[in-house]
Amino acid sequence: MQVCHSIAEIKAEINRHFLTQSIGFVPTMGALHDGHLSLIQSAKQENGLTVCSIFVNPTQFNNAEDLLKYPRTVEKDLEMLSQAGCDIVFLPSEGEMYPAPLSLSIHFGHLETILEGAHRIGHFKGVGVVVAKLLNIVKPTHTYFGQKDLQQFLIIKQLVSQLNFETKLRCCPIVREKDGLAMSSRNIRLSEKERQIAPKIYEALLLAYAKIKSGESLKNAQNAAITLLNDFGVFEVEYLEIVNADDLSPANTTNLAICTAVTLGSIRLIDNILINL
Ligand code: PAF
Repeated sequence: MQVCHSIAEIKAEINRHFLTQSIGFVPTMGALHDGHLSLIQSAKQENGLTVCSIFVNPTQFNNAEDLLKYPRTVEKDLEMLSQAGCDIVFLPSEGEMYPAPLSLSIHFGHLETILEGAHRIGHFKGVGVVVAKLLNIVKPTHTYFGQKDLQQFLIIKQLVSQLNFETKLRCCPIVREKDGLAMSSRNIRLSEKERQIAPKIYEALLLAYAKIKSGESLKNAQNAAITLLNDFGVFEVEYLEIVNADDLSPANTTNLAICTAVTLGSIRLIDNILINL
């Protein structure tokens, strides 16, 4: 596995393979877990060459403490990627990615004003810029994201379509711990007690899902899920919304997503499930 720190290095490395192989790309911020490895596996299945980037992107954090505390486990990440059969890792410094302060901004319209966008102001602008940079550097034929960040995936779909990036996007299923908790780099920051109760988030989504499937109104389903979480007295529910899965607008189709963000202690966790009526 080749580890490249500079843009020049990774471009040269990719150019050596580009004419003969399709390139599967998995952008990450490190602190890798089995969810990321499932993306690597999907990339490997579909492409001749698999590239992963690890870069904790400062422009997508709207909270300085969150950026500071974001887990960084590079040695372990490289070991996991090597074991998983990743071919090239791009591990740039902040100076390499942002040699000068950013003077442009990307707008994502309605999609950046709701759910995550409403609670993490500027987050998707940062994601949009860094993903655009990474796509320009790596020029992948296929790029892989996790469904856990459903809104991020839809933002990137918009970016790729409107700026004509030549990559096919793949949204891969959420990988869960045995007890249902969605895998996340943030889970390692949960205390033992918080970790024990965290699977209730998925339980709440499943409760809403079951209620919708049994014909109850979306409002009842939403209220029941929020009540389940509130009754524990430890979750702060930022939002738990039932929305159209394709653009996260208010639910009025048969293809829905139940999306939530909750804070547990000082850790913010997101999760979602898709539901077809
Ligand atoms: O999902 C992530 O890990 C990040 O938001 C991404 C897509 C790598 C951009 O920094």
